[in-house]
Amino acid sequence: MAGAGTEEQLAQRLEELLAVERFAPPESFTEHALIKDRSVHEAAAADPVAWWAEQARTLDWFKEPTVALDDSNPPFYQWFTDGTINASHVCVDRHVAAGNGDRVAFHWYGEEGEQRDITYADLHRDVQRMAGALKARGIGRGDVVGIYLPMIPEVVVAMLACARIGAPHNVVFGGFSAESVRERMEFSDAKALITVDGARRKGKTAPVKVNVDEVMGDLPALETIFVVRHTGVDTPMTDGRDVWVHEAMEAAPAEVPAEELPAEHPLFILYSSGSTAKPKGILHTTGGYLTGVAWTHKYVFDLKPEEDVWFCSADVGWITGHSYIVYGPLANGATSVMYEGAPDYPHKGIWWELCEKSGATIFYTAPTAIRACMKWGVEHVEPHDLSKLRLLGTVGEPINPKAWLWYHEVVGDGRCPIVDTWWQTETGAIMITTLPGAQDAKPGIAGTPLPGIDAAVLDEDGNEVPPNTQGLLSLRRPWPSMLRTLYRDDDRYLSTYWSRLGRETYVVGDAAKMDDEGYVSVIGRIDDVLNVSGHRMSTAEIESAIVSHELVAESAVIGQADEDTGQSVAAFVILQGDLEGTAELEADIREHVAVRIGKLARPKRIIWTDDLPKTRSGKIMRRLLRDIAEGRALGDVTTLRDPGVMEELQQLVASEQSESG
Ligand code: WT7
Repeated sequence: MAGAGTEEQLAQRLEELLAVERFAPPESFTEHALIKDRSVHEAAAADPVAWWAEQARTLDWFKEPTVALDDSNPPFYQWFTDGTINASHVCVDRHVAAGNGDRVAFHWYGEEGEQRDITYADLHRDVQRMAGALKARGIGRGDVVGIYLPMIPEVVVAMLACARIGAPHNVVFGGFSAESVRERMEFSDAKALITVDGARRKGKTAPVKVNVDEVMGDLPALETIFVVRHTGVDTPMTDGRDVWVHEAMEAAPAEVPAEELPAEHPLFILYSSGSTAKPKGILHTTGGYLTGVAWTHKYVFDLKPEEDVWFCSADVGWITGHSYIVYGPLANGATSVMYEGAPDYPHKGIWWELCEKSGATIFYTAPTAIRACMKWGVEHVEPHDLSKLRLLGTVGEPINPKAWLWYHEVVGDGRCPIVDTWWQTETGAIMITTLPGAQDAKPGIAGTPLPGIDAAVLDEDGNEVPPNTQGLLSLRRPWPSMLRTLYRDDDRYLSTYWSRLGRETYVVGDAAKMDDEGYVSVIGRIDDVLNVSGHRMSTAEIESAIVSHELVAESAVIGQADEDTGQSVAAFVILQGDLEGTAELEADIREHVAVRIGKLARPKRIIWTDDLPKTRSGKIMRRLLRDIAEGRALGDVTTLRDPGVMEELQQLVASEQSESG
């Protein structure tokens, strides 16, 4: 068991490793890797469209496409237009037909220690019945179906059942409020909603259907509410509108064939926050999306479906869950781990316990989660046997080198390559990373554009900036899994992504740099870039520097309006353990940042705090921090995981001001 000494030794080792710029994959990894060198990048670059068409052929089409890319009306690109396909057939039926019905699709673990194994044959049975239940309520091609479910196997069945009959699903993350479900059902004119009686979270049961009822009553398009029985909480049902899923499935036929759909048939809408208050309905279609997620899931994660156990800790309600819990892994016939609960329930080592139990070989999570685990300490990791793990991944935000190294040393035991995957809801699939058997990883730097992807860092005129210079991350060539539009809002699609550099260059919205080996470091959203005395700086870069201070656990940096310098750097800082902020420590951190980046980046102001306002997906809401720091009325706080944080912060800043004033 790790004593205090071990934690200290670890800190020391991580400190030393900060000097290591690149980590080559161990030979033993490369030896067995699906891709061992960069020849695939080269092959794809020679003719990307033809290369993608070749990858698409590995899916099981009803009718193979003869057209790869239709670029006659940019940026409304289409892929594989004359092919026909069905996502539920690709993800389920073909594996059963190939004799793999007994393979486990999901090792599902419940919060209270339950375990259920769901095979591909189980999915085949349930998805057909669920599709039949939807059809019995008049739902068919093109009808939008909302899904508001926790992390239970039924959520996968519901998604695939929609796909089976060509009804685009619109999943709303279970942590969002019923109000936001209503809004999303309204925006998409959903004809049905699939939800649950109640959900469990950290040992408590919360009613869900009852809350939905309170806000959903008067939506004219919403004809049916399907309810999954999960917790057994009291659930009043409205006659004529509400249907128990288990009853509807029993009444449905056992065989409901997958419909032959055009490749460009909409598979799903997923709402994501944009720069305005109204969420964007990101639309993905079938053939191209499946091509992108299947390829990236297989090759970025070096997946051997017969041997590997895949564990993605995301929630199905986000794009990561859509692409790397549902469609990618199932298209590849993988065996996955699915966990219902929170990472710290019933204890802070639950992920590692599940890795051990399931024999997980590949683990994919977010940097924010890794930082939380760091803070909780190695004693939650070490009791578990993680020797089966062979590859680790991260997604969602830049990972600071210290967290990368902790993940590498503590979870990966120094032996597992890490893939830092950059992508977005809009891109559908991973765009930038390293192929783990073929490329070195550089901590804190995502990697190179994947085969078939033309990512570049451009200036405002669309020219490439020199290496190591900050610019606009852009994708210059269409790719199969790209969004097709914003649902019912082509204008916003055009203005958000295709106005800045023209209709053939997708502007990502992130600032980035590319080094002379083509590795991209993503600096952060464009709106999080600061300008201090005319110098551009990234909040993420400063945060990373602050967090690399040995006494700091987490930090959020904002640009604060400043008379002298335009903007100045303000940092909210969470210290390790129970440490108290002092003037000395403040000076120390400022000096630390000066050493890591430069004097200009030093925070002018440090605000000690115990918590930060985060969205439910773990993103720090800097907009709210700016409001607080500048003493403004708070903007919308409804997407916060814990709105209570804001009150505490306001008091903190107010007391700081009265002290200094
Ligand atoms: C934004 C997209 C893709 C699933 C989760 C987030 C940031 C994402 C990375 C990474 C640096 C990253 C970008 C991007 N981001 N992955 N590996 N390194 N930044 O999906 O909510 O659509 O957010 O997340 O800023 O634009 P999303």
